[in-house]
Amino acid sequence: MGPPDKNMANDQEKEAAARASLRFIKDGQVVGLGSGSTATHFIKLLGEEVRKGLRIRGIPTSVNSKALAESLGIPLTTLDECQEIAVTVDGADEVDPKLRLIKGGGGALLREKIVASASRQLVIVADGSKQVEKLGKFPLPVEVIRFAQALVSKRIAALGARVQLRTSPDGTPFLTDEHNHILDCHFGEIADPDALARELSDMPGVVEHGLFIGMASVVLLAGGGEIVELRR
Ligand code: A5P
Repeated sequence: MGPPDKNMANDQEKEAAARASLRFIKDGQVVGLGSGSTATHFIKLLGEEVRKGLRIRGIPTSVNSKALAESLGIPLTTLDECQEIAVTVDGADEVDPKLRLIKGGGGALLREKIVASASRQLVIVADGSKQVEKLGKFPLPVEVIRFAQALVSKRIAALGARVQLRTSPDGTPFLTDEHNHILDCHFGEIADPDALARELSDMPGVVEHGLFIGMASVVLLAGGGEIVELRR
């Protein structure tokens, strides 16, 4: 028998990390529901807890996570009704030793960052492959207003990145839940993520970028049958 398929192993790790996050959820809380494959495991596990009697209300970070939560009978609320979230559980594309993250591989970074910013605790769940010394191997997603796309692409390229417009499988530009485009920015190693985050935030036409700095309270990384808990 050969080695286990890497994707399958990663998926088991994603589920293990998601399961470990359940202990952060308490009865009566408002819970932010992340997006992506690891957050999907979390939402499914949370659905099981709700069926067993846990009373929470969820605020989803994407149209997909909302549909999944609804299908599982998880009661939902919105940021219009409630602006304070006790804990959000979400995935990440990269995590560095200072718990700075790259997020947005699934295209949900804008709502994810808004929900994270309203959360007392942001618990990140990930398989071990997401842990890096330096951020940037994963192309940094930047959500842009379509009107400004060419201008923003040029400005980000001038910062040293190869900039690629994200497309859907049919070749048309990928549209976010807020109907914007995403530029995947290949920086390679990002020497100073804090400075880059500020530069991108200051760029007119950028709606949001995938650098999440100072937001994660805990990262639960699964690997080798264990969960490692990282804190800032
Ligand atoms: C969604 O836009 C992302 O921020 C995800 O949280 C991130 O891409 C991690 O996704 P996976 O859990 O699918 O690896």
